[in-house]
Amino acid sequence: MGACRRSSVWDSYGDAMKAIVVVGTQWGDEGKGKVVDYLSKGASAVARYQGGNNAGHTVVVHGKKYKLHFIPSGVVRGKLCVLGNGMAIEPRALLGEISMLEKAGLNPKLVIDWKAHVITQEELDEDSKDSKIGTTKKGIGPCYRDKVARRGLRIIDLLDRKKLEKKTRLWKEYYEAGKKLEKYFGDASLRLQQLGSVLIEGAQGTMLDIDHGTYPFVTSSNTVAGGACTGLGIGPKSIKRVVGIAKAYTTRVGNGPFPTELDNAAGKRLRVQGNEYGTTTGRPRRCGWFDAVVVRYAARVSGLTEIALTKLDVLDGFKKVKVCVAYRKGEKVVKEMPPELGGWKPVYIEMPGWESSRVKGYASLPKEAKAYVRKIEQLAGVPVRLVSIGPGREETFRKK
Ligand code: IMP
Repeated sequence: MGACRRSSVWDSYGDAMKAIVVVGTQWGDEGKGKVVDYLSKGASAVARYQGGNNAGHTVVVHGKKYKLHFIPSGVVRGKLCVLGNGMAIEPRALLGEISMLEKAGLNPKLVIDWKAHVITQEELDEDSKDSKIGTTKKGIGPCYRDKVARRGLRIIDLLDRKKLEKKTRLWKEYYEAGKKLEKYFGDASLRLQQLGSVLIEGAQGTMLDIDHGTYPFVTSSNTVAGGACTGLGIGPKSIKRVVGIAKAYTTRVGNGPFPTELDNAAGKRLRVQGNEYGTTTGRPRRCGWFDAVVVRYAARVSGLTEIALTKLDVLDGFKKVKVCVAYRKGEKVVKEMPPELGGWKPVYIEMPGWESSRVKGYASLPKEAKAYVRKIEQLAGVPVRLVSIGPGREETFRKK
């Protein structure tokens, strides 16, 4: 008999294709990359189903930092990375990312679904003029608009000079990029069916979802877990777990309502302690207290099975911490997400803070920090399974 192996999160699901979906529960930047890295160990592939290079995460290869925007961080573990049909892809930027990885000594294994949409130079030019939404200016909105208007350009069209000529003035550049990327083109849905375990990584967050977010201050795709089915061509029955990533406080970049935003010293302190500056745009993020109405809503619209709570250490040293449990407008108080968030003020509970969460395991956290985690579980109605207190792998604790 072989040595007893610690069971993997994937073991109990049998042979058919099974997926774990990871989604952001707030306005993005919840620290998904780290949890994806943790869960991807036993997976055969890591897949994305929406968005494009509006997302961003930093990975470390041989001690050097790299910023990735299209390719999931699973690439560093040598995993097959799948870019699904629901994505918006700028081929020249994707090529740049691949060549950066190759220079770092990695040979990325990729499948780019041939039905994914292409961001053209014209769509980029248009988005660069945005001032209302505060977009990342990567052409995401115009690209999805053209997709829905049935005049978009798909990845497979990069190999069709005639179609390209009609869609972009830079058709030659796009054609050349398509030729270089052609070896990766394929049927993402089919490839995923042939694999055992797939980790699916949502980009952005629930409150930026085109349907469920703070419309119109949203991104242009379905960020919620349901988007994984349409954006990859998989059935809902293959999704076994939905992990919601929640930061221990809240941040937002770009414009739009944000009830728990702190425009004061506490907000500044969260930004500095949490290093809250965008990976894609470098913009300072707006910061505020944890909003349990938002996370409970995310639990409902994505069917979360669990929460991973990140950056708990950023709250270290606050005498009191606040959690928003409802919203108030005049005399009216609501506990569930209203159709418009503008004008609603937070109703807070206050909890005692803690000195330091820099410990070696969940059990050693200060009792006040544990009470904070339990309160979040109770308000969200979903168990917290992971808590992280820093960027290192040893700084993620399992909570039983
Ligand atoms: P777009 O996705 O570039 O169209 O931007 C629409 C909104 O989503 C803007 O408020 C952006 O700041 C926000 N956004 C897009 N991607 C991200 C992300 O990865 N993290 C946080 N906010 C994002």
